[in-house]
Amino acid sequence: MKVFILTGAGISAESGLGTFRDKEGLWARFDPMKLATPEAFERDPEKVLAFYNMRRQNLLAASPNAAHRALARLEAGLKERGGSLFLCTQNIDDLHERAGSQEVTHMHGELLKVRCIACEAVTSWQDDVDVDTPCPSCRRTGVLRPHVVWFGEMPLFMEAIYDALLEADLFVAIGTSGSVYPAAGFVAEARAAGIRTCEINLEPSDNARLFDEGRFGPASVTVPEWVERLLA
Ligand code: APR
Repeated sequence: MKVFILTGAGISAESGLGTFRDKEGLWARFDPMKLATPEAFERDPEKVLAFYNMRRQNLLAASPNAAHRALARLEAGLKERGGSLFLCTQNIDDLHERAGSQEVTHMHGELLKVRCIACEAVTSWQDDVDVDTPCPSCRRTGVLRPHVVWFGEMPLFMEAIYDALLEADLFVAIGTSGSVYPAAGFVAEARAAGIRTCEINLEPSDNARLFDEGRFGPASVTVPEWVERLLA
């Protein structure tokens, strides 16, 4: 069985990382247009770098939860049975990897990586980044940005994502509000291809009616239950 899973901020909510559009979400407290766009970075790099420095430190203090661990078990369990899991995440945290997932596709980039806008080098990075932090590759300063996809930029790995989506037997969206494209359009693509769809969320998302099945509650409860049933 080939399973395609799309995760969003909701799977990391119980690890203490904020979601975006819940009432206490990040975009309720910070203006994404001032912090998560190329124009914002151009206009005020210090402010943008400080925002991601804060998020990076929060992430380093966080741990994976039972939902992340269940997906790592699912990946191993499907492989043992000759199946496969394509885990596509909108999240820029590394909690899937820290929970044991071997293959994770970060379509919105990764908070623990920086990219040089001069030489394009992408480097793992856990410290703060400032405008005078030199690029580890070309040594220039004033050129490092988070390796994160901002609003108005193209998500990563889209060809591999669509290939995996269209050959899946089951599409599951976990902890995402289905508000941001292209990820929000995956369920419609799956349905058009005759693929079974399931939403696992705290409560039904805006595009809940597009899913054949829905399981609602905190991910740390619903995801392990769903994985155990699927592997049984
Ligand atoms: N368990 C399961 N789901 C939860 C939980 C929880 N404990 N807490 C919240 N959720 C659900 C919410 O119901 C909501 O559907 O997680 C979802 C969070 O939605 P968003 O905050 O919009 O996050 P996401 O869908 O990942 O946003 C997509 O938008 O800002 C961009 O790049 C950013 O990747 C992000 C993208």
